[in-house]
Amino acid sequence: MTNWTERGLTRSAAFELSEDRTSNSSPNATMGEIVAARMGRRGFLKGALAVSAISALAPSQVLMSRSAQAASLTGAKFDEIEHGVDETHHVAPGHKAEILIRWGDKVTADAPDFDPMQQTAAAQARQFGYNNDFIGFVPLPLGSNSSDHGLLCVNHEYTSEEVMFPGIGKQGGDFANLTREQADIEQLAHGCSVLEVKKVDGQWQVVPDSQYARRITTGNTYMDITGPAAGHDLMKTPTDPAGTQVVGTVNNCAGGITPWGTYLTAEENFHGYFWGTLDAGHPNAQNFARYGVPGNWYGWGRFYDRFDINAVPNEANRFGWVVEIDPTDPTSLPKKRTALGRFKHEGAETILNPKDGRAIVYMGDDQRFDYVYRFVSDKTYDPNDRAANMDLLESGTLSAARYNEDGTVTWLPLVHGQNGLTAENGFADQAEVVIKARLAADKLGATKMDRPEDVEANPETGQVFVMLTNNTKRKDGQANVANPRTPNTFGHIVEMIAPEGDHSADTFAWDILVQCGNPADPEIKAVWNDKISENGWFAAPDNCVVSPSGVLWVSTDQGGSWSKSGTADGLYALGTQGDERGLGKMFFRVPVGAELCGPRFTPDGKTLFLAVQHPATDGVADYAPFGRNSTFEDPATRWPDFQEGMPPRPSVVVITRDDGEVIGS
Ligand code: FEO
Ligand code: CA
Ligand code: CA
Ligand code: CA
Repeated sequence: MTNWTERGLTRSAAFELSEDRTSNSSPNATMGEIVAARMGRRGFLKGALAVSAISALAPSQVLMSRSAQAASLTGAKFDEIEHGVDETHHVAPGHKAEILIRWGDKVTADAPDFDPMQQTAAAQARQFGYNNDFIGFVPLPLGSNSSDHGLLCVNHEYTSEEVMFPGIGKQGGDFANLTREQADIEQLAHGCSVLEVKKVDGQWQVVPDSQYARRITTGNTYMDITGPAAGHDLMKTPTDPAGTQVVGTVNNCAGGITPWGTYLTAEENFHGYFWGTLDAGHPNAQNFARYGVPGNWYGWGRFYDRFDINAVPNEANRFGWVVEIDPTDPTSLPKKRTALGRFKHEGAETILNPKDGRAIVYMGDDQRFDYVYRFVSDKTYDPNDRAANMDLLESGTLSAARYNEDGTVTWLPLVHGQNGLTAENGFADQAEVVIKARLAADKLGATKMDRPEDVEANPETGQVFVMLTNNTKRKDGQANVANPRTPNTFGHIVEMIAPEGDHSADTFAWDILVQCGNPADPEIKAVWNDKISENGWFAAPDNCVVSPSGVLWVSTDQGGSWSKSGTADGLYALGTQGDERGLGKMFFRVPVGAELCGPRFTPDGKTLFLAVQHPATDGVADYAPFGRNSTFEDPATRWPDFQEGMPPRPSVVVITRDDGEVIGS
């Protein structure tokens, strides 16, 4: 790990050096000028930042204020852990981290016990899936604030065959060693799990034989296609000539829980599951090229025509959506909500607009140089009519974000017939606008971002946080005000502010909250609070959550390049206001090769659910004590069981405080 000690610097010298960094290369106006000139000052920030400080100082000066005495972080009072990497997880002292459920554990009552040497599709269809990512918590009874009983909604993003199946190693090419049964197991290990969880005698457990328990998969779950793309010619296939029903959801990354108690699951890298050859004569050539279809990451096309773009040219149009699931009804059909657009959806967090009660969904399209989106429902939420709320995501306005040099954000509506989204330009109707959402946003001039991941609002303050993981491909000359580093190796977080808390407004303000990476290395041009410790900074922000006490918690995904920071991924609390703005603290660290996903608090803030994804895989050859790639037989870690013969298993971890009090209080 490169830290200032190893570079021969004292800590204070390192801080001095870090002071020289460019905090914001943009010529954008101060927040105060935006407030005064464009929005009207009163009430604009709803307490997000002190208005007097804002009108006097540029944001970077607010961030860097040396007079601040932010020794600890309000709402995140714990002793932070250290950066590093080893074969297990670590949590801040005074907390318990327990395994709630692992890949292969029973979900439905009829599931067999997990046997890694005798895996079957029939078993996997009933067991907890692979690579848990998003976690949602829906309190039971529905509509309550219960914090000891609820439904846990968990995404299973992808599979890691090299540590999942004996004897085949990492596949690729023509997937010659992958059997049809393994391809089936993979499809059934993707998707979602709905679990009933309960705290019994202080101990969280998955309720066995729950009436709610459900697996939703790529391979065997029917779902409806709803919204503007339903029934469109581009959605029709030989097995679904109406274009209204599809089997499965795939690459379920992050998501959201709506105020009406449904579970949104976001289809991210759907392109990777399609194989074949894209040439100029393919009926979807231009649009597929924009989405990277086919990705040829998985071998399913060897066994299933629908994953072969030459055999079934439209199947890929039926993926890349946000899917809405009613977790309280295990017989309900999930609904692909096409009004929210088709892209590599990272997540989909919903709030009710404080101004008018419409549903607002913030979304990121996780690819280098792609966009941040917002959906505003046409109709308003009715607290007394859940059935009506179930269709709120059917119609509304999808927009993409343009970050302007004057510190404002313009939301550009993806509406057929407006601003060039016309038949002459390849958008015959609103269905084509949403199916080709990336091309539509290109046409509107949205801002090319550094991989937008989670986007999460704090409705109390009007702040909206955009995680931008990194972009090592952004070259000199390709910087823009909201993505100023070339290359952007460590990622950053952009803050947007809804004027007077109105999240449906056409214009927001924006600022950079932090620029990630080691602040002790001036070449990285990191921007943090100057009180940050040597363990409080991070790289590659991915998932995030605003805790009940208003603290932003950020989990990281450095992928195979964690050695650039020298620490495994983890969870960090991050201050966003006043003297604490930009102050990070490390709370949890994953085992080698893993990524941290899904941070989710119960309403009382006393329980935190985390998803440890793909242990023993990413970058493990750089882990000196191991120094090679993992296989099923020879993994870098056997977390969490540490039993000979048992492979590493992605798992949900439940965190509580030893004294049972609110985490961070
Ligand atoms: Fe699935 Fe963008 O992380
Ligand atoms: Ca993610
Ligand atoms: Ca990620
Ligand atoms: Ca990820």
